[in-house]
Amino acid sequence: MNNQWRFGAEELKYLQQVIDSGYGSSTEGSMNNQFERIFAEKVGAKYAITFNSGTSTLHAALEAAGVNYGDEVITTPLTVISNLSVILAQNAVPVFADIDEKTFNIDPEEIAKKITPRTKAIMPVSLYGLSCDLDAIMALGKKHNIAVINDAAEAHMAEFNHTPIAKLADITSYSTENSKHLTTGDGGIVVTDNEEYAIQMRKFGSLGYAAMKSGDGRIRLNKDIFQNPNYKRHDAFGYNYRMPEVAAALGLAQAEKLDHFIDLRIKIANLYNDVIRSCDYLIPQFTPKGYKNTYWTFTLSFENKDVSWTDFRKKFMELGGDGIYSAWALLYHETLVTSGAFKKRCPPLYDKLHYPIQGLCPVAEKLQPKLMQFTTNHGSVALAEPIADALAKTIQYYK
Ligand SMILES: Cc1ncc(COP(=O)(O)O)c(C=O)c1O
Repeated sequence: MNNQWRFGAEELKYLQQVIDSGYGSSTEGSMNNQFERIFAEKVGAKYAITFNSGTSTLHAALEAAGVNYGDEVITTPLTVISNLSVILAQNAVPVFADIDEKTFNIDPEEIAKKITPRTKAIMPVSLYGLSCDLDAIMALGKKHNIAVINDAAEAHMAEFNHTPIAKLADITSYSTENSKHLTTGDGGIVVTDNEEYAIQMRKFGSLGYAAMKSGDGRIRLNKDIFQNPNYKRHDAFGYNYRMPEVAAALGLAQAEKLDHFIDLRIKIANLYNDVIRSCDYLIPQFTPKGYKNTYWTFTLSFENKDVSWTDFRKKFMELGGDGIYSAWALLYHETLVTSGAFKKRCPPLYDKLHYPIQGLCPVAEKLQPKLMQFTTNHGSVALAEPIADALAKTIQYYK
């Protein structure tokens, strides 16, 4: 894939500033804090904290929500391994709730069935660019006093009921890995309106420095205090998940162009949508009224009984397509789980834990093998046109 459209003069300008400053760590807080400020403003949140991935952001969010040994966290099985890893990292118990067949997102009614007195957090995912049902999920969170951490790794600038999603959940987490709407190469950024959560997440993302504030990643605020042998620096856990200044420089430039990137993703998704409109076996992710899907990928369910998933993909590529991604295997189908390897994290807690291969989340089990993801990360609509054309030809071929 030709990715040269990704970075340009704007990124170079900020990178040069980092190089000229001679300082590349976020602990002096220049690029990182600028990136945080503009991102928070863009998504509509009070506080933003940069991280080295959209996995470490989720880990920090669980810590801030107070998730600890033996607590249960409800999440979707149709997501990346990160959601599982971070729950296990906190010695908490992953609980899977089934998804909605049309939106592919976690189903609030299924979440409700899984809530117990040990549930400490709900971690829905806003999948492929489409917000989860935040009204219903937030109502559950409020009713049971459970924090809601919306994993919006793939849903930059998405909206629910005409409202930016970051305004709705307690914590909203984003990835800035290379395929995302806004990228720092690798990285993540997490937002909240809750100052206490913001402080805790910032501390967790560094080394638990007592001096850290909600809106500031600097740690050497007063040299006389910091350099004193009696100074105690750390009052919380922290795993050093910080984003380097060079990455934040990319993020700052990308944030300034974010609206353009979002617009492009939507236009490219519309291109695919137009092509499949009259095809009765390609059923796209359903975007309800009032939602703004920002299409990390254009995803659909392949419902053709006569042609195999793999044959369709092969033909698409023969006809000029750039490939079709499948969905991840469901989390409880991953080898880490089926082999029992995850139990090593905490044998007293996990030894008796068993996830059946079938029947745990029947909708997700039925849907996952049929999902097809088409790429939307292209530099222009014109660059995506040959791909949409290949899709049209593939549909025509199987008529
Ligand atoms: C839904 C979801 N959650 C979390 C992540 C983790 O983000 P990262 O790769 O930046 O760790 C991703 C990354 O692709 C993702 O798609």
